[in-house]
Amino acid sequence: MHDGHDRAIHYLRVSVTDRCNFRCAYCMPPRGVKWLTRAEILTYEELLRLIDVFSRQGIRNVRLTGGEPLVRKGIVEFVAAVKKLGTIEDLSLTTNGSLLPRYATALKAAGLDRVNISLDTVDPAGFMKVTYCGRVEDTLQGVKSALEAGLTPVKLNVVLTEALSTADLAFFIDQVQRYPIAVRFIERMPLGGRGGLASGPDIAAVKRLLEEAGHGRLEPAAIKGNGPARYWRLPKSLGTFGFITPISEHFCNACNRLRLTADGRLRPCLLSDREIDVRTPLRAGASDADLAELFISAVSAKPQGHSLCRTSGYPGFGRRMSQIGG
Ligand code: GTP
Ligand code: 5AD
Ligand code: SF4
Repeated sequence: MHDGHDRAIHYLRVSVTDRCNFRCAYCMPPRGVKWLTRAEILTYEELLRLIDVFSRQGIRNVRLTGGEPLVRKGIVEFVAAVKKLGTIEDLSLTTNGSLLPRYATALKAAGLDRVNISLDTVDPAGFMKVTYCGRVEDTLQGVKSALEAGLTPVKLNVVLTEALSTADLAFFIDQVQRYPIAVRFIERMPLGGRGGLASGPDIAAVKRLLEEAGHGRLEPAAIKGNGPARYWRLPKSLGTFGFITPISEHFCNACNRLRLTADGRLRPCLLSDREIDVRTPLRAGASDADLAELFISAVSAKPQGHSLCRTSGYPGFGRRMSQIGG
């Protein structure tokens, strides 16, 4: 299905919970977060029905997000049920990695194709500062478990903050030289985090530092993905680096996605608060055709782009990142 700006929409990001066991600085405040109640979040049966209906409208790629998707009970069985629909070609999950040591093998067996893992720094104190309560050893063990389970390509998400150091870049260079992973540097978007953590180096500085420390030029690379990252490779590396630049270089012209929030809203654009309520009609007995109509109206409500830039000043958004899932 195409939207009004001639973009093919085939990717659905599904937030299965707004809860998380971390409190990343750019994502949610450390305290006082009011969680959705159990009655407010869509049940797995409801989510599955929507994915089924939307796949008949052309959705082929599904990414499960959160909050942290692995804190929701029954997630492995849900992955298996989505896979069993037979229509989703690429089923992926974005996670903070801390629970992957427990779940990676089961997720792979259930049919999950791959994972993206947040890892902003490997310094234990810096990691604690970013996540507020996370232990870097758990996430590193999660990365290892994902690679061992074959949830590949494994991608690491590094949001640019002051916690990112040259020692981290050296670690990431070493990892991409040895493993077929992708390390993506992401410009921070203003979606409801806590303050107190300055933004880090910009993308140009990271590229320069990678080339200096990696002793070579970054060359364009093509790897599997449905998202906005642009990939590059250093000489003699199995893995790649990616850059996600929602602020300095917009990628809206290639946008291929819709989002479904845990409380059943279709969100046509991450950076616009317009949403379409599917939960109310779903619970009032909507037919598949009614639900397909809502999907079509969300696709046609996709804006051409957003206007965030370094000098725009940051508008407030109605939801935090943890309530959308990236
Ligand atoms: P693949 O390329 O399929 O591996 O996934 P992805 O990069 O789309 O997913 P992931 O959940 O790992 O997101 C990585 C970063 O990209 C996060 O910071 C997201 O918020 C951001 N992102 C993903 N989609 C969009 C988008 O449509 N617009 C903007 N502005 N940011 C996005
Ligand atoms: N800006 C950019 N990326 C963010 N993420 C979370 N919050 C933000 C933000 N404010 C990223 C995390 C996570 C993914 C879903 O979104 O790296 O992996
Ligand atoms: Fe949790 Fe992810 Fe948000 Fe961090 S970015 S608080 S890990 S949902």
